[in-house]
Amino acid sequence: MLPKSPNNLRSYRWYGPDDLRSFVHRSRAASMGCVPGDYQGKPVIGVINTWSDMNPCHSHLRERAQDVKRGVWQAGGFPVEMPAMTLGETFQKPTTMLYRNFLAMETEEMLRSYPIDGCVLLGGCDKTTPALLMGAISMNIPTIYVSAGPMLRGNWRGQSLGSGADVMKYWAERRAGTIDVQAWKEIEDGIARSAGTCMTMGTASTMTSLAESLGFALPGATSIPAADANHPKMANLSGRRIVEMVWEDLIPSDILDRASFKNAITTLLALGGSTNAVIHLIALAGRAGIKLTIDDFDSLSKTTPVLANVRPTGKYLMEDFYYAGGLSALLKMLSQHLELTCKTVTGKTIGDNISRAEVYNGDVIRSVENPLYPSGGLVILRGNLAPNGAVIKAPAADPKFLKHSGPAIVFDSYDEMNSRIDDPNLEVDENSVLVLRNAGPKGAPGMPEWGNLPIPQKLLKAGVRDMLRISDARMSGTNYGACILHVSPESFVGGPLAFLREGDIVELDVPQQKLNMCVTAEEIARRRESWRAPQGIYPRGYGKLYMQHIKQADEGCDFDFLEGTASIPEPEIH
Ligand code: FES
Repeated sequence: MLPKSPNNLRSYRWYGPDDLRSFVHRSRAASMGCVPGDYQGKPVIGVINTWSDMNPCHSHLRERAQDVKRGVWQAGGFPVEMPAMTLGETFQKPTTMLYRNFLAMETEEMLRSYPIDGCVLLGGCDKTTPALLMGAISMNIPTIYVSAGPMLRGNWRGQSLGSGADVMKYWAERRAGTIDVQAWKEIEDGIARSAGTCMTMGTASTMTSLAESLGFALPGATSIPAADANHPKMANLSGRRIVEMVWEDLIPSDILDRASFKNAITTLLALGGSTNAVIHLIALAGRAGIKLTIDDFDSLSKTTPVLANVRPTGKYLMEDFYYAGGLSALLKMLSQHLELTCKTVTGKTIGDNISRAEVYNGDVIRSVENPLYPSGGLVILRGNLAPNGAVIKAPAADPKFLKHSGPAIVFDSYDEMNSRIDDPNLEVDENSVLVLRNAGPKGAPGMPEWGNLPIPQKLLKAGVRDMLRISDARMSGTNYGACILHVSPESFVGGPLAFLREGDIVELDVPQQKLNMCVTAEEIARRRESWRAPQGIYPRGYGKLYMQHIKQADEGCDFDFLEGTASIPEPEIH
């Protein structure tokens, strides 16, 4: 017998009883053309849709919501579409990260305050995936995730173009004067050819893949390009499956445990995925009552090979990854590093889900015997510049910078950096270390993707294409370079980055995982004495709430009051 029956569905409290309130709920359902047979005794499925005209990555999600709803109807459920704030990476300022927790709160409270028995989450653009999942995990009702899917490959004069990575590459060439305005315009028209998310292994494709490896998506679902006919079919099947999940009462806490998060970290490393995922996975685990630390990433990074040959770490794009077998095939290659008994939304284990997966192109999805890199996809650094840690995506850096020392050039703000970086009189050479501070969770605020500091124009013209860069910011997962990110604690709250001075020597040793400034402890203490904490910019509103409760990067940047699994009562209905 299934654990759920029509009379113990959550929605029954709204629609079922013979009382005044239920009369109102039923009569208003009738006002929308619904007859009782549409919803009575059926799972009500909330389709949380982050479609918006301000989010090109989700421009097809209104249609996909219809595909999901078709599946829900066919499986005997009652679908209701619920719009939620979109986090459109390209347009939302100062940064979508400022609003990740906002969408997480909105998702959780929408699910709680309405008669929803299970939910389908429609998202994909960077922070939407962790935000939707954080909210649903906290609500802990049956949940399935439908990824927006990556865009088709970009194209320019017969060459493939990758989101983000090639923007930065050709912007550097434009600043160096090696391509002209006409070429730049052609790239603008060719780099985003369809609906869907960035088609490099940026934060979007990393997080959608991790949602699947955590167990929240149908097998292979997250690799399907948005424009492929298999994408609406996947949405339909997800709609069917969520109805079954409600009857089975298969909830996030049945799916998530320490082993499933270990699988997600292992997948992240094998993908050569975005550094942003470190923050998001720590936050997701915090919602499930599981304590993840950056040391969990560190230890797995030493033993996990990079298998996905996808930009910016590798050569290909997400469309190629899909044709090569997609995430299921990569997980199959990674089997010996995974906990195969972890449960998923299919009701089966991840091992069952990938049992028949195959690799169709061994250069795109490598084997453990022939990896892109044997290990070290992400490296956690510590030292007197980052006592609580910092992160570098080592394979995306010019190897000569992995052991490097040089004098710091320090910028206190993005505006200051912009005004000085191309100054012909800036005393900089390729051994200099570019530093941006006050760009962390509280400092910017919102920890924007400013960590890929631009190379000074005079060095670009001399042929320099990478330099060592350090910040308490994040970096777009689509970008590359010798960029040390997420320095914790951030400078705004008095982390040691605040005490670095122009000309101080900075030492990086990736093999030893060290990041230090060559300044004595006594001198750092003296500088700390004279330091004055900067003021926040928000006198009221959401920004003020954010500043009061945001945690540091190494802790996942969740709000302190949203973490944990303490149960919240169901709403009274009167
Ligand atoms: Fe939406 Fe990259 S801008 S996924």
